[in-house]
Formats: sequence, structure tokens, C-alpha cells
Amino acid sequence: MKVELADLDAMDRFGSVLAAQLRPGDVVALSGWLGTGKTTLARSIIAALGHSGDVPSPSFTIIETYDPPAVRLPLVHADFYRLEDPSEIQELGLDDYRLGAVLLAEWPEHAGGFAQEPGCLSIHLETAGEGRIAIVEPGPDWLGRMPCP
Ligand SMILES: Nc1ncnc2c1ncn2[C@@H]1O[C@H](COP(=O)(O)OP(=O)(O)OP(=O)(O)O)[C@@H](O)[C@H]1O
Ligand SMILES: [Mg+2]
Repeated sequence: MKVELADLDAMDRFGSVLAAQLRPGDVVALSGWLGTGKTTLARSIIAALGHSGDVPSPSFTIIETYDPPAVRLPLVHADFYRLEDPSEIQELGLDDYRLGAVLLAEWPEHAGGFAQEPGCLSIHLETAGEGRIAIVEPGPDWLGRMPCP
């Protein structure tokens, strides 16, 4: 499925549609080259889940977490760009952070990828003129709750 995201408002709307569908254990795998809007979409999702205020980019910390009651459900926002090997996610303790939580993963391929998990929604972002397009591929757990903005 292809979704046109012409501007930041469209990104926010898409983030809200996605946020409404999220369940614990899901992964939203945000791929795409530098500057294609991965953090922007993650921020829209986190805001739609109830968080108010800044959402720091996890580019340096790698993992940022958000917990209820500030958000509807526990959330891990990760940016795996700086990982040199997928085995490093063990050292980060990612599995513990993920228990009962949703994972928003930027640069998922640097962590070995998540598409093999049934709850993974893969979103590949690309620039298109001034805006972006998203190519969305749902895992089996997403059938019946496909996000159409
Ligand atoms: N749908 C959109 N239309 C127009 N501009 C957008 C859109 N989404 C994001 N942008 C802009 O693109 C720029 C880069 O966005 P962002 O930081 O989210 O990218 P990123 O994919 O996370 O990059 P990186 O790989 O460096 O972390 C920002 O200036 C943002 O405002
Ligand atoms: Mg980013």
C-alpha cells in the first residue's frame, strides 16, 4: 500500500491513524534514507498516543521510552543507525524494554530487521517532490487493521 504524505499535516494525520491501531508487541519499522521523515512520523505517533512536549530524536541515545499515563500504552522509540552489528541490541537490553510495549524502530535493518515478526508494520519512506510517500507492508497481525489515512 502506498500513502502520499504531501506535507507535515499529512504526516500528523497518518501518525494519528497508526497510533489508534497500535497494540502492545507491535513494531512500526521506519525505513528510508536520511531525512525522509522517520523521526517526524514517530513524533506524530507518539503525540497521538498522548505525549505532550518534545520528543527527542533517539539518534544519540538509541532508545527513548514513554510510559503510561502520559501515553496510551508503553512505547520504545529507537534509532538503530549507529549500531555496527545487530548483536548490539542484546547489550542495549532491547528485549526488556519491549515487554508489553510498542516499538517504533528507525533504521530497523541495522538491528537485523523486524519484518519476520507478525506484529511488524513496515513503512518505507521516500521523498516525492516537497513531500514524502510511504510504502506500507503489514505483517499478518495487521490484517483487518490496515491503516488507511
Ligand atoms: N511529509 C513531509 N513533507 C515534507 N517535509 C517533511 C515530511 N516529513 C518530514 N519532513 C521534513 O523532513 C526533514 C527530515 O525529517 P526527519 O528528521 O524526520 O528524517 P529522518 O528520516 O528521521 O532522518 P534521519 O535518518 O537523519 O534520522 C524535516 O525537516 C521534516 O520536517
Ligand atoms: Mg531520524
